[in-house]
Amino acid sequence: MGRKFFVGGNFKMNGTIKSVKEIVHNLSTAKLDSNTEVVVAPPSLYLLLTREHLSPNIEVAAQNVFDKPNGAFTGEISVAQLKDSNITWTLLGHSERRTILREDDDLVACKTKAALGGGIGVILCCGESLEEREKGVTTDVVTKQLKAVNDSIGKEGWSNVVIAYEPIWAIGTGKVATTEQAQEVHAAIRKWLSEAVSSDVAENTRIIYGGSVSEKNCRDLATQPDVDGFLVGGASLKPAFVDIINSNI
Ligand code: G3P
Repeated sequence: MGRKFFVGGNFKMNGTIKSVKEIVHNLSTAKLDSNTEVVVAPPSLYLLLTREHLSPNIEVAAQNVFDKPNGAFTGEISVAQLKDSNITWTLLGHSERRTILREDDDLVACKTKAALGGGIGVILCCGESLEEREKGVTTDVVTKQLKAVNDSIGKEGWSNVVIAYEPIWAIGTGKVATTEQAQEVHAAIRKWLSEAVSSDVAENTRIIYGGSVSEKNCRDLATQPDVDGFLVGGASLKPAFVDIINSNI
């Protein structure tokens, strides 16, 4: 069985009760490719609202989760609380959290382990800065981020992980990676998985692309053999998100 195409919508810190309800209504009534797995990640304040109004065939993700089970951790949300709220996925390691909120590889690895241990799927983000790309160290940067997680979750953990390759220079810039650039890094990640983890994990793990994906560029990217879907930011707030979900038909 091949890898099921996967499209995530990361709303980031956008939306209101009204606009989130509109997006959710739009998605729930649209005709979506049944061969594509769809997950949306609203701000934490709107997780329950989204789950309540969204069609059951679409899953909901948190944008982050903490690695401790409960207690005095002001401002954080636990894996058990997500589970209790029927939130089945979480993003982790997004570059905005790595850079602006200063999350390092170890913390991302601990959070990934905690999420998987509690039965929550992880959309694990990785990606290089423009400076790193220009220095020619993209693969090193990305595999270092993934290695930290692998050291923590081991081979079995990967079955509930989707890797999102998001070059930082392409996020929110309108400067999408070319199909060749995306395919090259996705293939390098798959090669790394096969060497560092196992050939089964390499074969079965979805590697999705994020960074200025739009209804205009998604079809070309989707033709690439190692591009198994998308993590969409800005465009996931718009009706065009439906076209991106359906880009693999
Ligand atoms: O997680 C999605 C992301 O960072 C890409 O954002 O707005 O460039 O699609 P955007």
